[in-house]
Amino acid sequence: MQVLETPLSSTENLVFHVQPGGALKGTFRVPGDKSISHRSIMLGSLAEGVTHISGFLEGEDSLATLRAFRSLGVSIEGPEKGQVTIQGVGMHGLKKPQAPLDLGNSGTSMRLLAGLLAGQGLEITLVGDSSLSGRPMRRVTDPLRKMGAIVETTDDGTAPLAIRPVKALKAIDYELPVASAQIKSSLLLAGLYADGETCVTEPAPTRDHTERMLKGFGYPVQRSGNRISVTGGGKLTACNIDVPSDISSAAFFLVGASIAPGSDILLEHVGINPTRDGVINILRQMGADIEILNRRDVGGEPVADLHVRSAQLHGIDIPEEQVPLAIDEFPALFVAAACAEGQTRLTGAEELRVKESDRIQVMADGLAILGADVTPTADGIVIQGGTLQGGRVNSHGDHRIAMSFAMAALRAQGAVVIDDCSNVNTSFPGFTELAAVAGLTIRAVEDN
Ligand code: S3P
Repeated sequence: MQVLETPLSSTENLVFHVQPGGALKGTFRVPGDKSISHRSIMLGSLAEGVTHISGFLEGEDSLATLRAFRSLGVSIEGPEKGQVTIQGVGMHGLKKPQAPLDLGNSGTSMRLLAGLLAGQGLEITLVGDSSLSGRPMRRVTDPLRKMGAIVETTDDGTAPLAIRPVKALKAIDYELPVASAQIKSSLLLAGLYADGETCVTEPAPTRDHTERMLKGFGYPVQRSGNRISVTGGGKLTACNIDVPSDISSAAFFLVGASIAPGSDILLEHVGINPTRDGVINILRQMGADIEILNRRDVGGEPVADLHVRSAQLHGIDIPEEQVPLAIDEFPALFVAAACAEGQTRLTGAEELRVKESDRIQVMADGLAILGADVTPTADGIVIQGGTLQGGRVNSHGDHRIAMSFAMAALRAQGAVVIDDCSNVNTSFPGFTELAAVAGLTIRAVEDN
């Protein structure tokens, strides 16, 4: 298949220079939740009426979703200080875009849009950057084809994805081969356009923001154990969405404050959805001092303030059932493990190898450069806690790897220099500024 447009890419090397030592202190609010921000644009666009979003993540990934819906003919104002207003076009109001939709680095945009767009009767091509163009897409295109969709990948099963118009989609009953919220959500969104009841069974609980938000927009969703279903042909009614802070972004500070002696921070308004709270459970099991304060419900999502003080961590065998609940937080957790007393062992996490980078290998390589004792395995890693040295590591364009190594500097004995950090903007705009206010001595330098 021909790629009609060069995907967004940044050629410059943004380098983080982080001085060793220090502690984290203060009260902060990290940016809005990425998963919820994506979904708020998707459902707001398909709703009838006007949806107002506050706390929207102004990061490249969620902006890619926002731009995609503009290209699909939806009028969207903002974002302006996290405020977005969407004039919903209804379930059948999207228009054929003039060009391929460029989803940059965002796997969530591509996989969820593949499902959402499969039944629109429009011809649409989805493209991404080099990282996204290497990630597996058959996990969504195979079940979508079973629903009668025509969604083509490259011969390798990767993007670009070419969606062709079909008359109708049929409902399926599908058992997910991997615990993935992206596949589940893609199929549920396609199911809104299918004839009958689409059922998805997940092997373990994964983030349920799609289900919660569909209900918030007045669309019935049934759940029975691990089986979730929607019936096609309904409609979405516009509503207001307050996006909580992203626990995946808070995770860097949870780890940083835990490992840096003398730290004491309060992270405000963090989403603590039980399908996302693995990082808190795992860190607490390792001995972290994390208090959950002021629990409340914000638009159907549980939210709290998190008070973190430094603590001596110890290694653990990470319970496998926590893996999907902490899937994006492992780079940061590996840093915690490298600073803990004793051994930490992760198993059942082979999905980490197909994220924005191969997060097992890239973290193992970087931690080894910093002098840590790490052994990557096919589905996890074994980390022996100890002392970290300074060194120059490569994030391989993976935002969460870059931010995790920045936190590692808090316990390193020399400066940590991190290459290829520009993708931090995909999920955490303003990271270096906030980290500096919190107590990290960090500088971002463009190195062409
Ligand atoms: C996401 C689901 C997860 C996660 C990703 C966001 C979502 O991916 O890693 O960052 O918003 O649904 P998988 O479903 O592929 O595990």
